Amino acid sequence: MEGPGLGAGDALLILALETSCDETAAALVDEGRIVSNVVSSQADLHARFGGVVPEVASRRHLELVVPVVREALGDHSLDELDTVAVTQGPGLIGALLVGLSAAKALAWGRGLPLAPVNHLHGHVASLYLEPDPLEPPFLCLLASGGHTLLVDVPEHGAFRPIGTTLDDAAGEAFDKGARLLGLGYPGGAEIDRLAREGDPEAFDFPVARVPGLDFSFSGVKTALLYEVRGLGDRVEERRADLAASYQRAIVRALVQRTQEAAERTGAERIAVVGGVAANSELRAALPDATAPPLALCTDNAAMIASAARYAEAIQPPGYLALDAYASAL
Ligand code: KG4
Ligand code: ZN
Repeated sequence: MEGPGLGAGDALLILALETSCDETAAALVDEGRIVSNVVSSQADLHARFGGVVPEVASRRHLELVVPVVREALGDHSLDELDTVAVTQGPGLIGALLVGLSAAKALAWGRGLPLAPVNHLHGHVASLYLEPDPLEPPFLCLLASGGHTLLVDVPEHGAFRPIGTTLDDAAGEAFDKGARLLGLGYPGGAEIDRLAREGDPEAFDFPVARVPGLDFSFSGVKTALLYEVRGLGDRVEERRADLAASYQRAIVRALVQRTQEAAERTGAERIAVVGGVAANSELRAALPDATAPPLALCTDNAAMIASAARYAEAIQPPGYLALDAYASAL
């Protein structure tokens, strides 16, 4: 079959799969409108280990991928699809391979094109979904469990990083902080909830000063560790204050850098995406920024379908040898 693949913004019914970490997700998206968006989180499975165990995640994806795809399809048949989209990377390699293999099989079985999507582009494309799609150009803060970067987005499908974290991602800082405070995994949402009961000025946690538009979150994490050690048995009674102050420091770092980047680039519009974009203090601190609905901040497949609308799809059999990649390109 010949053809250029998907053109920008083509009208298409897309089935997308996302298995880069610990969410098994599938979605059906019709011209940017979400028909279904199924996310089966493995968080409970990994909670007892305090983080995602890659091999456990891969095995669980294998069990869940078919039922999750079936649920996303609902009454629709594979014959109605125009293309299949899938996260190719970055992420856990074994987890990615489950989604990629399933997507290849689904596409190949129906002679459909396959659109491989970069997970980070997917997070940005969560902003392009109906009913309120954001039009580029804009400056995007992408803050998740695996990545934290500032991205200049001049047009649909474009992705120009202008700053990144030098160590931990913001979501990772939330998760590690939550662990130090004895909260569950993943910890971002827990800290967000607990912080509402605490005083954000109670502790003075540092905001790292790094050159350019980069971020660093290892210092604030270490500061929390020392505070927790110093408090000993009194951590319990100060937990909400610690959570509120810790969250304040992370949000301040994200907001400061985003505002600096907006000034430098002259961006008129700012957007926030990724799991940390679900944070209530961050959303309140950037009132003029566009953020996706909460369900589209954390990992999902609707955002992968959305990115596929602006990416090149590969015609069969060109994708059969396609490999996943673990690190950001
Ligand atoms: O985008 P995502 O689902 O997965 C990655 O691509 O990494 O992001 C997950 C991250 C986790 O670190 C989680 O703790 C964080 O997003 N997160 C939050 C909130 N909800 C999820 N962080 C702060 N506040 C929240 N409400
Ligand atoms: Zn993600």
